[in-house]
Amino acid sequence: MSFSPRLAIATHCVKPRLARCRLSPQPLRTFSTTTPQLSSHPSPTASATPSSRKKVTIGTLNKLWRQGTPITMLTAYDYPSALLADRAGMETVLVGDSLAMVALGYENTNRITLDEMLHHCRAVSRGSRHAFLIGDLPFGTYETSPSQAITSATRMIREGRMEAVKLEGGTEMQDTISSLTRVGISVLGHVGLTPQRATSLGGFRVQGKTAAGAVRLLKDALAVQEAGAFAVVIEAVPELVATELTKRLKIPTIGIGAGSGCSGQVLVGMDMLGVYDKLQPKFCKTYAEVGKITVDAYRAFGEEVKHRTFPVSEVHTYPMGKEEEAKFLEAIKNL
Ligand code: KIV
Repeated sequence: MSFSPRLAIATHCVKPRLARCRLSPQPLRTFSTTTPQLSSHPSPTASATPSSRKKVTIGTLNKLWRQGTPITMLTAYDYPSALLADRAGMETVLVGDSLAMVALGYENTNRITLDEMLHHCRAVSRGSRHAFLIGDLPFGTYETSPSQAITSATRMIREGRMEAVKLEGGTEMQDTISSLTRVGISVLGHVGLTPQRATSLGGFRVQGKTAAGAVRLLKDALAVQEAGAFAVVIEAVPELVATELTKRLKIPTIGIGAGSGCSGQVLVGMDMLGVYDKLQPKFCKTYAEVGKITVDAYRAFGEEVKHRTFPVSEVHTYPMGKEEEAKFLEAIKNL
């Protein structure tokens, strides 16, 4: 069964037409409130509260998994979203290729290049101090051969400053994942609905809905585990199937549209913030109406500018000494 039109406007979908569904410590930054901010671009670290949180590692994730504590993952695409996800205590941050659609406005995720991903990964790494950082390998950068995957993943780690890579696929990607993990690159697998292959899957469809499909899904997840992945994303799969997979795997499963039986959950940041004025997929919960709040704020600014009620002289402007003011006015009198 394919997604209904409502479900088809999936996690990455920002356009009305059908689109795809849809984890090096940094120095602690402090901010002095005594220094006036003259820059028009004050650092969003301004209200960050330094915390004693430890840097999340794969060891931390394994510990959470062993304890049966659900693992949290959010996508982030830039410095502020990484900063806020980190401040909210997300254990893992994924720079998903969903950024192609939700941050760059492409019509699907297959358009994004590795260089574009790397640009965003670096911004996310600058905003994140604690979360474990995972970069998605985009379409066309890892499928050809294990050596292509190693080259791309190395760039993701070295240039993108990510700690692990994610790639889509099951049994057919086992050799590639093995090659990556053999050379010390941590891999997050991704099975079920793999949006980079949506066309060959016949669209954005829930996977594993038949007994045979569900068995194939288990084999895919086992192959990913066998290849050494530290965890696996399961996307758009019936809850019972994802729960059974989770019980049989010895690595954490991170669900998106796969129910509550997974070892953790991931959502696309922009979707759960209601940034876009579109229907969300069934599995997405909108935690805040950031889109509406933002438009309301922009509108209020626009109106205040039109009515000259912003800026307010006493509040938003810089004073000049009376004497200098008089001298200045005198100096320009005849200019
Ligand atoms: O690209 C992405 O954001 C993803 C997550 C939804 C798992 O693949």
